Amino acid sequence: MKEINIQSTFYIFETIDELPEDIFLLMQKAKEARTKAYAPYSNFTVGAAILLDNNQVVLGNNQENASYPSGLCAERTAIYYAAANYPNSKILKIAIIAGSLVNDTPQPIPPCGACRQAIAEYEVKQETPIEIYFMGTSGNVLKSNSLKNLLPLIFDKSQL
Ligand code: THU
Repeated sequence: MKEINIQSTFYIFETIDELPEDIFLLMQKAKEARTKAYAPYSNFTVGAAILLDNNQVVLGNNQENASYPSGLCAERTAIYYAAANYPNSKILKIAIIAGSLVNDTPQPIPPCGACRQAIAEYEVKQETPIEIYFMGTSGNVLKSNSLKNLLPLIFDKSQL
């Protein structure tokens, strides 16, 4: 038996004000999208903003449902809209902001496993990395240069 170690690298910005201007603006758009989330069951709202290589910004937020599993996360709402409407554009960057409406949630909140798998699909398809920035309702912003840091050993089309 042999041990292998897989490394992931993240960058920490202490606050949103430390972000480069273009990412600051993208995060502001994610913040605005978060205010339109429909999350009456969890009271946990998420906003996502995707920058495409055609300069379009696509927004998404979580959409819940009385039949709980029928709801969808912000990241997938946004990425499926992007893929449906701009199928030939590459995704450059995603900014995500998430938090509870009832508790304090200042820690960076990463995309869930299902959203990581969805983002992985498009990163593999476009053959270029997607930058991902995520935060809670305040405080640190984490950056990853590729989805792969969030989902090592991805399952993708090469395994089918
Ligand atoms: N949620 C997202 O929108 N994105 C994530 O990556 C994590 C979870 C949503 C789903 C649900 O509406 C609420 O947050 C609580 O799980």
